[in-house]
Amino acid sequence: MDQSLTQRVMLPDETATIQLGADLAGALSASPAGWLILLQGDLGAGKSTMARSMLQTFGHAGTVPSPTYTLVEPYDFRSFLAYHIDLYRISSADELEFLGWDDLVEGLRIVEWPERIPDIEAEADLLITLSYDGEGRRAALRGTSERGAALLEGMNLN
Ligand SMILES: Nc1ncnc2c1ncn2[C@@H]1O[C@H](COP(=O)(O)OP(=O)(O)OP(=O)(O)O)[C@@H](O)[C@H]1O
Ligand SMILES: [Mg+2]
Repeated sequence: MDQSLTQRVMLPDETATIQLGADLAGALSASPAGWLILLQGDLGAGKSTMARSMLQTFGHAGTVPSPTYTLVEPYDFRSFLAYHIDLYRISSADELEFLGWDDLVEGLRIVEWPERIPDIEAEADLLITLSYDGEGRRAALRGTSERGAALLEGMNLN
């Protein structure tokens, strides 16, 4: 399977970002545990909007606080745990370990600012890059594991 295939989606407004997050969560819903999803993009590109939509689609009803200061925000969905993670303040693999990264691997990890730890991509299932496009945004989605690539292929994004 070609894992390097990148799918591109236009996100003209916030609703489109929310829809993409919901679609991803829907596609993942059979077995989100153990998945590692990277959300990359400049300040304000829509990473948190997408993470929030995924968590709400899985059934979280409350607010989705930014993990900027706590670094990890856990969510208990009963059948699996999810972790919303922000690596903006992390600058080395040692710091990542100190944060308890190894204890999170059995849950679904949704990671903002993964570019802080370049090696993380080797572990990941999906790399989603959000960029500015006029007033809106666009997303490039790439499967970085076999199951990640298969998930994207099954989603019919284009
Ligand atoms: N497709 C879109 N088109 C236009 N605006 C959008 C789109 N998606 C999200 N936004 C808006 O962009 C703003 C920033 O979004 P968000 O907080 O999700 O970005 P972020 O990447 O998490 O930023 P940060 O790096 O600062 O945490 C929000 O006001 C959000 O509503
Ligand atoms: Mg954010």
